[in-house]
Amino acid sequence: MSHIVVRGGSRLKGEAEIQGAKNSVLPILAATLLTAGQVELRGCPRLRDVDASIRILEGLGCAARWEGEDVLSVDTRDLSGCAVSEALMREMRSSAIFLGAILARCGQAELSYPGGCELGPRPIDLHISGLRDLGAEIDDAGGVLHCKAPRLQGREIVLSIPSVGATENLMLAACGARGVTTIVGAAREPEIVDLQNFLAACGARVSGAGSSTVSVEGGKPLHDCTYAVMPDRIAAATYLCAAASAGGEVFLRRAREEHLSTVTAVLREAGCSIRSGGEGIACICRDRLKAVRPVRTAPYPGFPTDAQAILMAAMLRCRGAVMFEENMFENRYRHVDELARMGADVRVSGRAAVVTGVERLHGAPVRCTDLRGGAALCVAALAAEGETEVSETSHIARGYEDIVRDLRDLGADVLRTEH
Ligand code: UD1
Repeated sequence: MSHIVVRGGSRLKGEAEIQGAKNSVLPILAATLLTAGQVELRGCPRLRDVDASIRILEGLGCAARWEGEDVLSVDTRDLSGCAVSEALMREMRSSAIFLGAILARCGQAELSYPGGCELGPRPIDLHISGLRDLGAEIDDAGGVLHCKAPRLQGREIVLSIPSVGATENLMLAACGARGVTTIVGAAREPEIVDLQNFLAACGARVSGAGSSTVSVEGGKPLHDCTYAVMPDRIAAATYLCAAASAGGEVFLRRAREEHLSTVTAVLREAGCSIRSGGEGIACICRDRLKAVRPVRTAPYPGFPTDAQAILMAAMLRCRGAVMFEENMFENRYRHVDELARMGADVRVSGRAAVVTGVERLHGAPVRCTDLRGGAALCVAALAAEGETEVSETSHIARGYEDIVRDLRDLGADVLRTEH
């Protein structure tokens, strides 16, 4: 079992390169199915969820191969199946994203229902009703989704919640539908723009990503392409919060502030100095952080739910109190009990959590409860006196290529141990 040991209490100084975005590359890997050709993805992060996506592609008869450090070649010409096994579906909850792409390519798909995850229930009702609107017949008896769509037909689909996954799934299915599909109430996340850019690079006609109406003119055959995945804004937020937590001076190469402005606004309010340019983001944090106004998670361009735990970890020693409100997922405060082991004062009541800044945190054995909660423990540990051993770090490997390498590059005293 792999553990991360953090010796906290010293300031950071260093530079790290931000990996390609997990939440971009997963739908793009599903989208490679639409090309029936060869795709080269540059800046592809080496993550557990990417490995799971590769296994799904291989299970469907496709091939994927690493060509270098961060270049993944995917060949979907020899697709031979349209079913994803339950084991693979369980391994990665966002595997539902393959549904739209498999349907568009094969006219049928069989996937087990992704069910709940560590963040609570993860419904896909919007994915299913949108695909039905496009003409798919979907039977979800017994936990397995049997989908048939000999002919998908474009039309207007209205999403009642701007779901990221549903927007992406419907964009992919719409590429295989005849005519124009308009997704109204679409999610506006930068990763959806990245998916649109990837599809456009393969010859698809997609527009509107980044706004709440996305249009796809389907039915065009897609071709091979080479594409560079956007940098990961949540990894960038994590390392900005690491600097805010420990204090110090860091530079994050490739990080783009336009994707992160709600996070940088809070860090500036807390007293950090942040400057961004073409090459990345520089962050200097000299003093103990000040308390900030309430932080409420919301769909993009609101404050990202994926940065909630990480920012909370940075605020544990602030002067005053900060209120968090989690509006996206039901079960997203599981890191709080672990933070308490380090001496944090966080009270949770329903959607709200109030952090009262403490003067000191101390190292403790802690356990990752989920991906971002796990990263939050590392961020908090940087500010804790003494040694923190973080266990169950496989959650972190789902979304961070190598958090130990990156934190060491930033000057932290961190190492990985196996026992
Ligand atoms: C994506 C991200 C995840 C991020 C989340 C919210 C990926 C791979 N994952 O997840 O990191 O935390 O966006 O920014 O990109 N909902 C329904 N019915 C549906 C679909 C969603 O009720 O059919 C609800 C969810 O329960 C949740 C909200 O909509 O409360 C937002 O979920 P969604 O945007 O779909 O998140 P994901 O795409 O799963």
